[in-house]
Parts: sequence; C-alpha cells; structure tokens
Amino acid sequence: MNPAALENPLRHLDDWDDYVASRYKPGKAAEEFRNYDPDANPGVAEFYRQNHALQTAAFVQSKRAEYLPLRKGKKTIWEAAEFLNTLVDESDPDTDLSQIDHLLQTSEAIRRDGHPRWFVLAGFVHDLGKALCLYGEPQWAVVGDTFPVGCAYSEKIVFYDYFRANPDWNNPLYRDLYGIYEPNCGLDKVQMSWGHDEYIYQVTRNYLPEPAQYMLRFHSFYAAHKHGAYQHLMSNHDHEMFEWVRKFNPYDLYSKGAEKPNMQELLPYYRDLIAEYFPEKIDW
Ligand SMILES: [Fe+2]
Ligand SMILES: [Fe+2]
Repeated sequence: MNPAALENPLRHLDDWDDYVASRYKPGKAAEEFRNYDPDANPGVAEFYRQNHALQTAAFVQSKRAEYLPLRKGKKTIWEAAEFLNTLVDESDPDTDLSQIDHLLQTSEAIRRDGHPRWFVLAGFVHDLGKALCLYGEPQWAVVGDTFPVGCAYSEKIVFYDYFRANPDWNNPLYRDLYGIYEPNCGLDKVQMSWGHDEYIYQVTRNYLPEPAQYMLRFHSFYAAHKHGAYQHLMSNHDHEMFEWVRKFNPYDLYSKGAEKPNMQELLPYYRDLIAEYFPEKIDW
C-alpha cells in the first residue's frame, strides 16, 4: 500500500473523537465496541484500516526522527492554539465548535470540578498536537487509538483484525508478547504509534508536572487505560500515573457542550495560567 495514495477517510478530524465518545457512552458495555460494525460508519472503519496497516515500528522510528528533537519552530501556546484553529471545517453543518472550543470545554470542565491549575492547563493543551495535520500528516498518523509498536498487538485494541495487514504482524520478533521490550520495562521505554499524543507530550514535557505529562502522552491509549491491556510492559510507577490518565479521560470524552465557550471572558485566566507554567515561546 502506498501511503501517499491514500485519501483521508474522515470528513473531519474530530469524527474520530466523536466516534470514541460514542464507543464509551455512559451505560454502554465496556466490550461492546469490539463488535463495532464497519458498515455503520465506513469512514471510521477505513480510518482504522489505514492506521492499523501503516503504523509500523519503522514508520514510528521515521516520524520520531523527523519531528524529534522538535524542529518546527518556536511558538507561544496561544499561537499554537490559533494555528490549530485553522483546522475548523466551515462546511461542516453539524457543529460550529472549533478546536479551541474543545480545548476550553475540556479545561473548563476540569476547572469547575476544582482540580489543580496544572490539570486545567493539561486540558487546555491536550490536543494541540493535532497540528501534525497542518504539517501535512495524514489522519491515520495524527489521531486514533494509540498502541505500542515492536511487540504483539493486544486484542483489546479496537478493530484488532486490521493489524493483519501490518507488515509487523509477520515479524517473529514484533509478534512476540514482549517483542523488543523487557517485562515491565515501563512505558517510557516503549514506542507508541505516532500521533498527536506523543507529539504534544514531547512539546510540553519540560514544563508540566509528571501526571500532566502522562495525561497528554497516553490519553488515546484506550487499550491500556480503559481495558487494562499491556500491563506486562508497565511499571508500578506507570500504574500510579495511569490513575491520572483515567481521571482526565471523562473530561476529554464528555465535556462537549452545545454552548460555545466565551473566549473574551476566559482569556485573562488562561493568559495567567499559561504564563505560570510556560516561557513565552516554546519549541514545536
Ligand atoms: Fe486527543
Ligand atoms: Fe480531546
């Protein structure tokens, strides 16, 4: 399969986020999503077909080498948010909520519950890595459930069968349970599929407390934080930190409201919050 020849199957990048939210609708059985019907949402199914076939260990290596260390230039958090906001699809009649609106709805829900300031800030920056899309990355390399590469895929990953088309599926080393890793080596040593989670973690890691780093880095790692997969690679410290990842998740999934956040009203609070943790410009 030639990656360059593929079309982006999602009408809008947020279709993936909406799909995940519907997968974990309150009251829905945890395992129900595994029997998800590709015909019900062909765009999402095609998206996962591409994602699972093309996120190889070699691909992840190549993207890490391309983006890390960070070399896309310096930007303030605000400039990054405004840059990401250019992603809004004017022709989508379903929603007039922008990327910044999703970030503010997430962070404001966290603030309303009285969590610490760094937690609110994590909510505000968590999806800024989607700027990868504006750098020309295809959807399957920006969003989607994330998973370790270089070892066996867990059957708890959504659309698991699509991994059969991944060249790593037939690699004797990579199909081993531990693959290139040691038992309980800790997730910091594990390479995750490439996307907006790893990218925003790398951009912000020097400035945010560790629980926030975990929230950003693993917020799409549903196989682990929702379904308990990959415990054989996780350390005790990962388990402690995943409590925070789980605390963050409902704010990401369920904070979408019809009401557009009032940017002008919120601006002073966020200006102070960002200045408290970040220097003026950071590397992207
Ligand atoms: Fe995200
Ligand atoms: Fe999000």
